[in-house]
Amino acid sequence: MDITVEVPTNTADQPRVFPPGVADGAHPAPGGESAAHLTEAELAGQLIGDARQIRVLTGDRPTGALHLGHYLGSLRNRVRLADAGAELFVLVADYQVITDRDASASIADHAGGLVADYLAIGLDPARSTIFAHSAVPALNQLLLPLMSLISVPELERNPTTKAEAAASGRPALSALMLTYPVHQAADILFCRADLVPVGKDQLPHLEVTRTVARRFNTRYTPVFTEPKALISDAPSVLGSDGHKMSKSHGNTIALQAGADETAAIIKGFKTDTDRHITYDPEHRPEVSNLVLITALCRGEDPRAVAERIGSGGAAALKQAATEAVNEHLRPIRARRAELAGDRGYLSAILRRGAERATGEAEATLARVREAMGMAY
Ligand code: TRP
Repeated sequence: MDITVEVPTNTADQPRVFPPGVADGAHPAPGGESAAHLTEAELAGQLIGDARQIRVLTGDRPTGALHLGHYLGSLRNRVRLADAGAELFVLVADYQVITDRDASASIADHAGGLVADYLAIGLDPARSTIFAHSAVPALNQLLLPLMSLISVPELERNPTTKAEAAASGRPALSALMLTYPVHQAADILFCRADLVPVGKDQLPHLEVTRTVARRFNTRYTPVFTEPKALISDAPSVLGSDGHKMSKSHGNTIALQAGADETAAIIKGFKTDTDRHITYDPEHRPEVSNLVLITALCRGEDPRAVAERIGSGGAAALKQAATEAVNEHLRPIRARRAELAGDRGYLSAILRRGAERATGEAEATLARVREAMGMAY
């Protein structure tokens, strides 16, 4: 489990105390003077048994079922971080759904499905705050001062927003599409998260967050922590067509898919004509992807998996991948099926999360108002 951590600089006036070497800036982290990188294993080692916590915020848009690519690339690292003692805020980013599409009737289903997925993979709702940002008005109120700290040209330059706007097929950029990175900054800053595990496409948004935090702290008084991105080194999992596994490509294995459905999807995965199975991501991306999926699910080295299959060919590889995925996901799927049938429980988790998040957001907002001279 390799994860690259850019270590946060804590600039808030009520600093959380970090384990030595992780983030307090006073102790260089292993591997570098500037404390810029840590493997997740090192981070986990420093967190275990340490009551002083790092706060982590992650989020997903409720646009559809979470899949194996999400799970192997990021979801299971969240559970590891939580198990290692980090304090997790997990956001159901419902307002972001309407950046590039109309609100759909299924948004509540997708939100409930996300919560079921989170709990099924092992996030403990007693220790993690799982909430929807629409349910936390104080969080959205933070948006106004933050908006004043960034310019329209800066937002227009954001490559992720540009790509999403182009992909949406809409003729004109909506004001929400342009400004949602600031909303995302509020998502992160309201709870003064230190670390934000994200894919590389989210780095421009993290820069917006850091920028508005820094500008606020400079213009008024230091209130916000400048969060750092936590980038997973886990190679991207490809889908059935050989492109990155993604909801929008329709090439996924949903976490909740059945065992037979999984077998059928894996049968349709692209491979190549060389019967001898090797792990060579650069030259044989499709075959190596199936080897990697098998290896990640079994906790093995991909080279060992490839060697074992050897001249068994694509059929044996697909068989191994199917068994590994189904085996690994079996308990998760069973738990998910149970949870998904209990909408009342899932809603209660979101309500409780919203209460906790509201407490945090109101406290932050109070400090923001005070810093701005608006505490009447
Ligand atoms: N933009 C993220 C995505 O598209 C979702 C998200 C919203 C998010 N708010 C966040 C991610 C805050 C990390 C932190 O997947």
